[in-house]
Amino acid sequence: MDKLLSIRNLNIDILGEDATSRVVNDFCLDLEEGKTVGIVGESGSGKSMTVTAVMGILPEVAVPSGEIYFKGQELLTMPMKQRRKLAGPEMGFIFQEPMSALHPTITIGKQMIRPMKKHLGLNTKQARDRATEFLDMVGIPPERGVLDSYVHQLSGGMRQRVMIAMAISCNPSLLIADEPTTALDTTIQKQILDLIDRLRDELNLGVILISHDLGLISNYTDDIVVMLDGYEMERGATKEVVSNPQSGYTKGLLEAAPKLGMHVDRLPVIDRSLYSRKAD
Ligand SMILES: Nc1ncnc2c1ncn2[C@@H]1O[C@H](COP(=O)(O)OP(=O)(O)O)[C@@H](O)[C@H]1O
Ligand SMILES: [Mg+2]
Repeated sequence: MDKLLSIRNLNIDILGEDATSRVVNDFCLDLEEGKTVGIVGESGSGKSMTVTAVMGILPEVAVPSGEIYFKGQELLTMPMKQRRKLAGPEMGFIFQEPMSALHPTITIGKQMIRPMKKHLGLNTKQARDRATEFLDMVGIPPERGVLDSYVHQLSGGMRQRVMIAMAISCNPSLLIADEPTTALDTTIQKQILDLIDRLRDELNLGVILISHDLGLISNYTDDIVVMLDGYEMERGATKEVVSNPQSGYTKGLLEAAPKLGMHVDRLPVIDRSLYSRKAD
């Protein structure tokens, strides 16, 4: 059986005025339905670029090469129109900051209904009922009146729940969560990660979970890829990576992980020069 997603030797080049820089090097990843793979690394390591390439929404200056197979079909060589039709509704995306992903002056209901009418062929009433059902599924009961609310009226945790409901409302088989809890406090973080994990199980989703916090997402992933400056530093089953890290960089990330229940605003700074392959 084909894997849900298989990324083979993905490179991403950024075209500058007088030079090209490679921000993702030879990246590989395999994901099956019902499983979660984590991508961990500091800011700027190429995590978002990688998943943006999977979604087909890279900025114009970024040029991908390599292969991305989704249910056996190669996406990078597929015409964009066909790709959008095939992969658009099949991939749900949760961003770090829901405020920038949700429209400020359109109600949550209207924003949820539009893609369901387009991708699932529902009429307005059916789509509204389905929106209500999906909000309920992510822990927002109908009596909260969220369908008729605007994003600024919701708390950070509620916004992220709305984004999750939207991301799964068109029956995706892949869910990509790019630092979905970075802006939230510790208690809410755990609730959101538990929710994503429950939905993975109930809907048999393949999940890519991105974070800079290896300790936090190690509880929620089957496999882990550790990235630094566009390179893979380590990969493997999460249990192995956490209990017996092979790369010094991964060890540093684990030591830097905040202890459970301890509030930290910033992680200790890791001396990247010791580990960066670019320095080789
Ligand atoms: N729109 C863009 N144009 C040019 N360079 C970008 C753009 N977005 C990100 N980059 C560069 O690509 C590299 C990887 O960024 P990104 O994938 O966002 O990292 P991460 O998600 O791990 O923090 C960084 O060096 C960043 O500066
Ligand atoms: Mg990012």
